Formats: sequence, C-alpha cells, structure tokens
Amino acid sequence: MKKILVMASGNGSNFEAIVEYFRNKDVLIELLCNIEGANVISRAKRLGIKYFIVKFTDTYKFLKDKKYDLYVLAGYMRILPRNVLALGRFVNIHPSLLPEFRGLNALKRAYNSGCKVTGVTVHYVEEEVDTGEIIAARKCEIKQGMALCELESKIHQIEHNMYPKIIEEIL
Ligand code: GRF
Repeated sequence: MKKILVMASGNGSNFEAIVEYFRNKDVLIELLCNIEGANVISRAKRLGIKYFIVKFTDTYKFLKDKKYDLYVLAGYMRILPRNVLALGRFVNIHPSLLPEFRGLNALKRAYNSGCKVTGVTVHYVEEEVDTGEIIAARKCEIKQGMALCELESKIHQIEHNMYPKIIEEIL
C-alpha cells in the first residue's frame, strides 16, 4: 500500500477530490494542516481521514521520523525549507501556466492581465516558489466577458480532475 500526505492550509477542495478519487484504491491518505480551524480539517473529519495540525515551524520535527511515498501540496501556503524537502518527493498544484504568474493570487493576476489563456500546472517542489520540474499542465481559456468567479470554478474543476490522476501516475 502506498501512503501519501496531503498538505493544505485552507479550503481543501483539492484534498477532498484526492480522497474521493482514491476511495477503494490501495492508497492511504493522511492530512497535514498548519492552520487550526481551516476548512480542510472539517473535510478530513467528515471524510474519516487521519489529520495532523502542525504549526509550520514544527514541520520538520513532525515529519522526520515518518515515511510517505509522496507529499502532496494542495493549497499549503508556506514555503518549505530544504530539510523538509529532502525527506521525499513533494508535488504542488498551481493555478496558472507556469512559469507565468508564480506566487500568490495567480488566478486573479492572470484574469486581470487580460490574457486569453491560463491554466493549471502540477510540478515538483523546490525551495524557490513555484519553480521545480513541471509534471503536467492543462490550459483554460478565459472567454470574453467571463467573470472572475466563473474562471475560478473552471480552474478548480480542472484541478480536481487532473491532480488525483497525476498523483496516481507518480505513485
Ligand atoms: C488551488 O487553487 C491550488 O491551485 C492552489 O491553492 C488552491 C487550493 O484550493 N495551490 P483548495 O484549498 O484545494 O480548495
């Protein structure tokens, strides 16, 4: 059985999509959250997934004696230091076509830039934000007159669809 650790800080819709996808498959999922009270924790409770709330500065101490086949960042809003990244393979999902719009609020910045196409990128994690080898990318058209919230929901749909499959391929 493979074991993955999803790391998230906020809403957790990608976490939930991953849990649903791997239901009845031979993959054990656990959650690490660095924010007490984050919505992703309610999802873990509802879905019956084991979760750990660990403040960012204690991440290494917490992870060093554990072993996961893959560490999956899904809206984990901190930059992981080198000693944590050395523990295994870390992947991340980012709501833009990297290398465009690295960093925070990527989706909104892409929308406001007037570009016609944006998307989602899954990549390996390196110390520098949103760099690291690209594993897969999917495009999303920004149609004339499209509202930001429409784009957000399209991007989320793409994320929920692509991330679990890519995780499975990597495993
Ligand atoms: C996603 O848009 C992802 O691309 C970014 O953070 C967001 C997390 O959303 N890294 P959710 O918490 O999974 O709903």
